[in-house]
Amino acid sequence: MSLYDRIPNNVDLAEDQGLRRALEKWLPNYLEWWHEMGPCGFQEKEVYLRTAISVQPDGWAHFDYIKMPDYRWGIFLAPPDAQAKIGFGDNYGKPAYQEVPGEFRNALRRIIVTQGDTEPASVEQQRQLGHTCPSLYDLRNLFQVNVEEGRHLWAMVYLLHRYFGRDGREEAAELLQRRSGDPDKPRILQAFNQPCDDWLNFFAFTMFTDRDGKFQLCALAESGFEPLSRTCRFMLTEEAHHMFVGEAGMGRIIRRTAQLMKQTSTGDVRPLDGIPLDIIQKYINFWYTYSLDLFGGEISSNSADFFAAGIKGRYREQELFEDHIAAEGVVNIEAVENNVVTSREVPVRNALNEMLRSEYTKDSERGLARWNNILAEEGISDRMYLPVKRFHRHVGEYAGHHFDPQGNLISQGEFERQLSAWLPTMEDREYVRSLMMSVTEPGKIASWIAPPRTGINRQPFEFEYVRL
Ligand SMILES: [Fe+2]
Ligand SMILES: [Fe+2]
Repeated sequence: MSLYDRIPNNVDLAEDQGLRRALEKWLPNYLEWWHEMGPCGFQEKEVYLRTAISVQPDGWAHFDYIKMPDYRWGIFLAPPDAQAKIGFGDNYGKPAYQEVPGEFRNALRRIIVTQGDTEPASVEQQRQLGHTCPSLYDLRNLFQVNVEEGRHLWAMVYLLHRYFGRDGREEAAELLQRRSGDPDKPRILQAFNQPCDDWLNFFAFTMFTDRDGKFQLCALAESGFEPLSRTCRFMLTEEAHHMFVGEAGMGRIIRRTAQLMKQTSTGDVRPLDGIPLDIIQKYINFWYTYSLDLFGGEISSNSADFFAAGIKGRYREQELFEDHIAAEGVVNIEAVENNVVTSREVPVRNALNEMLRSEYTKDSERGLARWNNILAEEGISDRMYLPVKRFHRHVGEYAGHHFDPQGNLISQGEFERQLSAWLPTMEDREYVRSLMMSVTEPGKIASWIAPPRTGINRQPFEFEYVRL
């Protein structure tokens, strides 16, 4: 099989000798990484996966049994637009960049490498989860997410190889060398160095951290560097499935807990092997706040530079804004001054991280509302919530200060006294882990989660999603 056959693509790989040579060198290293750091223990199993074989609607959802190492990691960009213009910033209205503009080369490379680094990182974080899957359906969804994160890495590596020459190739090699959680060569962003070793973590991660990915990709889909924009637009179609896995997974745990609560007189679901709502809330607090950090500082000169250059826009820049230059105007940002939270006026371009973060929060709240509907449907009065954005932050204006989940500034001592009520403790994590036992009989499911309402690709829940 030639390389061209192995890599489905719509970028004329067959025609581009230099790119093919670069990818031919990178491919075996990628496969080595996948075997070493990809899903542990299931590489030889047949999984019911969907593969993208073109960007056309009918080429997309191609479902078949496949062994993961044989997955056809393709390179797909949304169709080009010869008329494409830079949609914002100082060069607004000029023709889009088809090659990397020299003066923005470093910034663009950094954006692509940072995005690219998250993709293999999440596969590494999730590599042991297969051993404790709650059902075959969930096992299949995990692997679908994993192979698509692999493809997202391909997407970024394509850009590095095709547009950045030698330093791009070096960065592409390093993307396979860093390791999630490794103290000597960690992944770039902190949320991607946190362990994700049980399924409550996995669902919270795909709900909140993959959703950060959605918003970063949306901002880059606006980019005036057209190849980046086209790449991100196609990646977004895959990201939607990852967030579905997370939101639906959390919703099914919440439903199961609510059902178990009604079976006991005390409301304590532990004797029935359920996950108490307060533990679920702590996992929400943990992953939501780590994901907030991924947007960067509230006040950021980088965000202003990227916007001015036309390489990273705002969420739905074309639909939601009229002024695409945004050289004037201010946004109020809450900052901590002399131990009080005060409002500070910041030029719009310097507040773009915070604006993107606000959109992310709104989107997350819609998920929370759906979970609370499940609780209401089950007749339970408890509700889940998102902590205020100041809580538990490690990046930006609130880092180094202590806030409660309602956003009140408190002392470090107070924070530490209350910590076990707000974030998962060792005991919480051990309890959750103690429930994680593999259930792989078709149609069966673990005690702590409700089955999905429908299966994948109109198959029933009982379908043999993975052949073990
Ligand atoms: Fe991704
Ligand atoms: Fe994702």
